[in-house]
Amino acid sequence: MKRRLIWLLLTLCAATSIASAITPVTRLHAYKVEGDAIAHPLAGLSGDAARGASLVQQRHKSLCVLCHAGPFPDPHLQGTIAPDLTGVGARLSAGQLRLRIVNMKRLNPDSIMPVYFEIIADSQEVRVAETWRDRPILTAQEIEDLVAYLQTLR
Ligand code: HEC
Repeated sequence: MKRRLIWLLLTLCAATSIASAITPVTRLHAYKVEGDAIAHPLAGLSGDAARGASLVQQRHKSLCVLCHAGPFPDPHLQGTIAPDLTGVGARLSAGQLRLRIVNMKRLNPDSIMPVYFEIIADSQEVRVAETWRDRPILTAQEIEDLVAYLQTLR
């Protein structure tokens, strides 16, 4: 009987440590999602539209133009597998734009758009390359810069 109890405890311990090992997502800065938007700027930062314009076009960093077309240079290098970002600042508010860049999967779990502002913990189930450990794809400042720029697309 005693041995059975020990096995039960051991199994419980193993199960809890596995469960914590596969919890993949850690929130960075606290932010509040209201409806389909994050109304307040991340970490209270203000964005710079010029930096955002340059970041959108950096295909190796932001990746945006791999999927999206828009009023950017080099139209022949822009993807067409996502909505065209022309006029997106008139269609969506700053808060709506922010949530879509932070984590589109909150609105559409099947979205192929990368989750730009979460940290995925390295685990046996999800291998994260060393360069990307403990950091999101974009910083809070970069996301605010993108929001500031996309708002100018009207
Ligand atoms: C791998 C492809 C991919 C990449 C890279 C990507 N997106 Fe998206 N994005 C999508 C798709 C697909 C949608 C349509 C929504 C959905 O997935 O349900 C979308 C939707 C959006 C929307 C909402 C557009 C609308 O009209 O409703 C915005 C804004 C947006 N993306 C901005 C960005 C920005 C900014 C970047 C770069 C930081 C980016 N996306 C990178 C695929 C991508």
